[in-house]
Amino acid sequence: MPSHITKAVIPAAGLGTRFLPATKAMPKEMLPVVDKPAIQYVVEEAVSAGLRDVLMVTGRNKNALENHFDRVAELEATLEAKGDLAKLQRVTESTDLADIHYVRQGDPKGLGHAVLRARMHVGDEPFAVLLGDDLIDSRDTLLSRMIEVQGQRNATVVALLEVDPAQIHLYGAAAIEATEEDDVVRITGLVEKPSPESAPSNYAVIGRYVLRPEVFDVLENTAPGKGGEIQLTDALQHLAASETDGGVYGVVFRGRRYDTGDKIDYIKAIVQLACERGDLGEELRPWLRDFVATVGD
Ligand code: UTP
Repeated sequence: MPSHITKAVIPAAGLGTRFLPATKAMPKEMLPVVDKPAIQYVVEEAVSAGLRDVLMVTGRNKNALENHFDRVAELEATLEAKGDLAKLQRVTESTDLADIHYVRQGDPKGLGHAVLRARMHVGDEPFAVLLGDDLIDSRDTLLSRMIEVQGQRNATVVALLEVDPAQIHLYGAAAIEATEEDDVVRITGLVEKPSPESAPSNYAVIGRYVLRPEVFDVLENTAPGKGGEIQLTDALQHLAASETDGGVYGVVFRGRRYDTGDKIDYIKAIVQLACERGDLGEELRPWLRDFVATVGD
């Protein structure tokens, strides 16, 4: 079934302070996960869900991002002259992947503010938002399912992950009601980074959203919230409470997700993905077993 949604927005203008100094001169979305920058996995995910029109919201140090998705004539010519077609293909696949556009955020005033920068490009249609530091395993079809639910319910749709209650303070947390579908819940309220005692549930909002264009008006009127930033969660909370905007639904994700914005999860993502790779896993897995046996606790 052709999707009614064609545009993906990828905010990549955060300061990435948790990865300093690696992110001093490079966006954290460019950090390699095995041998591809994190953001390339995210663009690939958007494309596999049928979204080839990609808008990146960039901040300072945007050059690395733009260069990565652009041609590099000199490198391509060298690899071609050497007849190294495998490497040549690795170089060109990010260039041919999608139709990529860029908009600057200027000051990183929060995720909500970054999404608002997409208004001109998106216009009056529903669109997807994918956070550049959140990876969903390519074997899981979360975004396609979210787009399907958006089409069926004409609502705002977010991705939810059940987390350990001790971890909920790191996320936006959702108050939910069951629906007739096992993987879909209705969201009645949202709180950004609550304490475990005040969290409405341990369902955390993760970095995939399918939004209606009404969100832009709400964001225009959203005051800075937690951390002095314009929070997307606050705008979604407004939509969840509104009678007129179709409501907010959550698709409960039970697949594999890697948070590359956090140091320990970033390391885990690299180890997991490398262990599963045909070209690396065979050598890495026995080494890892031996290594773990020698380091102990
Ligand atoms: P994070 O809060 O994880 O990113 O935002 P951060 O601020 O860069 O990270 P730390 O905590 O300092 O290490 C989630 C996503 O939203 C984007 C980020 O680039 C990231 O993909 N973002 C955040 C923006 O594009 N603009 C902002 O103003 C804030």
